[in-house]
Amino acid sequence: MENSGVILIADDNENNLRVLSTMLRSSDYNVRIAKNGLQVLSSVAISKPDLILLDIHMPEMDGYQTCIKLKENLDYKDIPVIFISALTETFNKVHAFNIGAVDYITKPFQVEEVKLRIQTHLLLRKRTQELENALGEIKRVQTKLIFSEKMASLGILSAGIAHEINNPINFVYAGINSLIKNFSELEKGLQALNLLFQTFDENQKDAFMEIFEKYNLEKRIKNIPQLAEDIKTGAVRTTEIVKGLKLFARSDKEEKVVANVSESVETALLLLKNQYKNRIDVVKDFAEDLPEIKSYPGQLTQAFVNIIHNAIDAIEGKGTISISLEKCENKLKITIADSGKGMSQELIARIFDPFFTTKSVGGGMGLGLAITHGIIEKHNGTIQVRSIEDEGTTFEIMLPI
Ligand SMILES: Nc1ncnc2c1ncn2[C@@H]1O[C@H](COP(=O)(O)OP(=O)(O)O)[C@@H](O)[C@H]1O
Ligand SMILES: [Mg+2]
Repeated sequence: MENSGVILIADDNENNLRVLSTMLRSSDYNVRIAKNGLQVLSSVAISKPDLILLDIHMPEMDGYQTCIKLKENLDYKDIPVIFISALTETFNKVHAFNIGAVDYITKPFQVEEVKLRIQTHLLLRKRTQELENALGEIKRVQTKLIFSEKMASLGILSAGIAHEINNPINFVYAGINSLIKNFSELEKGLQALNLLFQTFDENQKDAFMEIFEKYNLEKRIKNIPQLAEDIKTGAVRTTEIVKGLKLFARSDKEEKVVANVSESVETALLLLKNQYKNRIDVVKDFAEDLPEIKSYPGQLTQAFVNIIHNAIDAIEGKGTISISLEKCENKLKITIADSGKGMSQELIARIFDPFFTTKSVGGGMGLGLAITHGIIEKHNGTIQVRSIEDEGTTFEIMLPI
């Protein structure tokens, strides 16, 4: 088996050091030496060895103390430690294992045995690291899968809701408009009745007024226009929500075209100009000669509007929004950073959820980023966010070229 790796040997006995290091070097290991525990710690701090051979009796800091210090440190605790000592009592060995050693070799040692044990522990460590990496990768992929599954089912749900609400809301719309029209005719009739009322004698007037008051007609008539307006406002808002849901769930009929992403960004900025001018500095840094990409430009504009709109909302008073466009290998990277109020980790975890909003009623529907996420996904791109509370937020979008 091929040997490679860095072995740190700690022993206060020059002779032992020489024998061990010669033996390991001849087996192709890189060898570093230390004469006591303190030297071990400073050597490890400079660069991490793959394994440590540790003598117990050493001046200044003995092997046990050194091992305890190593195991306390998150960065070093995974380095396998093998004790190599003249102490042969069981309690010495047990103590060594208890404080985290992986093996214990007694002196005088057999060269072949030391080599084999080192080989075994290096291999074990390598396999453990591979397993840990694989586990990390599985977790990352799983999180991504769960997220896209969630988005996909939310998309289907949203399309369903949008479809179902569309019809009844059309009734409300038609109804309210006709109600308003009817009422204005009714008002004309009431005016005619009022003229007739002037011609009544006192008795007739009293009888008329009695009915009028009994049913509180004056107040009721006065309330109707405001109520009708309120219903209309509600209907308009519901229509907007349905529009948003459709956008989020959109099955595309639009064709992809070759277009310049910077134009989408410029359009988004133009659309939002009124909301940020004189208050927020927009700093643009667009690389030259950016490649055009196959995209749905209208949708990309929508995505940028949503992100920049949030950035504007996040900035109280004066601030800055920086937008950069650059090519990274075979991707186009769009970065949108604001100097706004930022977000906590808990908030970041929810911002792409449909209907998640921290804005007051009337402020936002919570669909902006859900829609944006859908659009970026449709372009086979990725969107990531970094944020620091009270400092600002950065959205990073990668689109394949
Ligand atoms: N740039 C930003 N800075 C701070 N918070 C943000 C930013 N972008 C998004 N958010 C948070 O994410 C939430 C969801 O955003 P979004 O989906 O666009 O819905 P809405 O803007 O309607 O609330 C916002 O309510 C806000 O709390
Ligand atoms: Mg928004």
